Amino acid sequence: MADGLYERIFELAKRRGFLYPSFEPYGGAAGFYDYGPLGAQLKAGIENLFRRIFVVEEGCAEISCPAVTVEEVFVASGHVAKFDDPVVRCQNCRSPFRADHLIEEAGYKGNAALLKNEEIDALAKKLGVKCKNCGGPFGAAYRQNLMFKTEIGPGSGKVGYLRPETAQGIFVDYPYLYRYFREQLPFGVCQIGRAYRNEISPRQGVLRLREFNQMEVEVFIDPQKLTHAKFARVQGTRLRFLPKASKEIVEMTIGDAVAKGVVANEALAYYLVLVDRLLTQAGIDPKRLRFRQHEDDEKAHYARDTWDAEFQSERFGWVECVGIADRSAYDLTQHAKLSGTPMRAVRRYETPQKREVVQVRSVPAKLGPLFKKEAGAVTAALLALPADRAEAAAAAKEVEVIVDGRKVTVPRAAYDVVRETVTVAGDDYVPNVIEPSFGVDRILYAVLEHSYVETTKEGEAYTVLRLPLAMAPMQVGVFPLMPKDGLDAVALDLLHKLQAAGLRALYDESGAIGRRYARMDEVGTPYCVTVDYDSLKDQSATVRERDSTKQERVRFTDLVDHLRRRFSPFRDS
Ligand code: GLY
Repeated sequence: MADGLYERIFELAKRRGFLYPSFEPYGGAAGFYDYGPLGAQLKAGIENLFRRIFVVEEGCAEISCPAVTVEEVFVASGHVAKFDDPVVRCQNCRSPFRADHLIEEAGYKGNAALLKNEEIDALAKKLGVKCKNCGGPFGAAYRQNLMFKTEIGPGSGKVGYLRPETAQGIFVDYPYLYRYFREQLPFGVCQIGRAYRNEISPRQGVLRLREFNQMEVEVFIDPQKLTHAKFARVQGTRLRFLPKASKEIVEMTIGDAVAKGVVANEALAYYLVLVDRLLTQAGIDPKRLRFRQHEDDEKAHYARDTWDAEFQSERFGWVECVGIADRSAYDLTQHAKLSGTPMRAVRRYETPQKREVVQVRSVPAKLGPLFKKEAGAVTAALLALPADRAEAAAAAKEVEVIVDGRKVTVPRAAYDVVRETVTVAGDDYVPNVIEPSFGVDRILYAVLEHSYVETTKEGEAYTVLRLPLAMAPMQVGVFPLMPKDGLDAVALDLLHKLQAAGLRALYDESGAIGRRYARMDEVGTPYCVTVDYDSLKDQSATVRERDSTKQERVRFTDLVDHLRRRFSPFRDS
């Protein structure tokens, strides 16, 4: 076979309806793929597994936020200022390239993304970097923000961005979610949805997309409680780790990894185990999976520590498909600062305590005429000021608060600073966040590559997609041995019964029976049901299993239960 494994998988994926290059009749566009009928089903399988683990078993709440997001959110999150890549453009053919990638490919040992533009220019010259398309020279390096920018409301001038991660919607909703969870931490919130990054020059097929699918979980925790209530249940799970600054994968239990300080704490470690479970149940080969810790200079701007789950791909080497980040209190602190909305939690005492507090209270007679309809909101914002700002306000001529995203200045005469003894339920603090962030498209590709088995049958190449049962896009193939003599009518009747029972089943009557099995094996269909001439006498059909190719006779009356049992959701096998 001339092509590499990646090309062969993609040929299958296109031909059989897993993945189509988007906009192909118009010449296509790099970084965009469509999911075809089987691909969309496989994607749904991965998403359902995620829901099963995180929403059902872990009790996370799933929410759904808009992809178009107001600018302020990404100013607060740091994406407007920091979410960029270094770019160089060919002066001859105008093609853009990731400057850091070119320099690393040319031999630079280090993280080239950290270099300043001038350093990139000097290195590009020294290393003789030339355009990969035409061999032309590059212009000066510059930074390109990766977010797609838009305008919210035509002609409004109000800037919006397509979200580069689903996470921010969850952070912005934190005050609602805190109340939803009855003000008790820890709690997890997840979101499945599209995210967008205007990649400079995506050249890795479905592994680097400009519009992609994320499944993200934000787990809000108390930074003083970095344990996990269910850690004892998972501590014997063995994972393969590549800690920062080390060159070799070490395999050990997650319990040992925490005890030896390889993974910082139980709270983070617990989610590494859940990520491992999801990936292996989805069909990623555990021997081609590892957890790699980010180097200190590699972490995203919001992260204190990050582990990537990486799968091994024949073409691309180790590829990240999940990031598990300790985002500390970064995001909530930023959103509280920029929006003026408190984003805190209370660490309750066993018994409430008396405490002297200092608060800024409005003087309604002065504040009312000044702020009219906004007086209530200004009063609330004054009350929410933290103690240090309240102390400072006592001696100041005015105080600034944020109301509806706008800075509002309140003169000294319109507020009082009051000290009093109150009963407090606990200390308040900004929650920390542990974030497992799954790249659905990369996981889907990994599942295809790791399930793809090439063998030969009767001297000919033969392909089987050994997908886990829960991932199979099509669950049962139903065939009449011949499309005549009533076999077709019986097979169609069985098909309709299987479909009515909730199984995804496909009828196929064309070609030799061996070809029909081959077509089903190639797309990972675990069972095929064949109706033959004996079926008319014994009211039974042959059920063939994909991986063992074993066949058994099953009575029509037992067929639905026989197959449905095997597809009970998320069995281990
Ligand atoms: N939320 C993490 C990421 O999108 O990479």
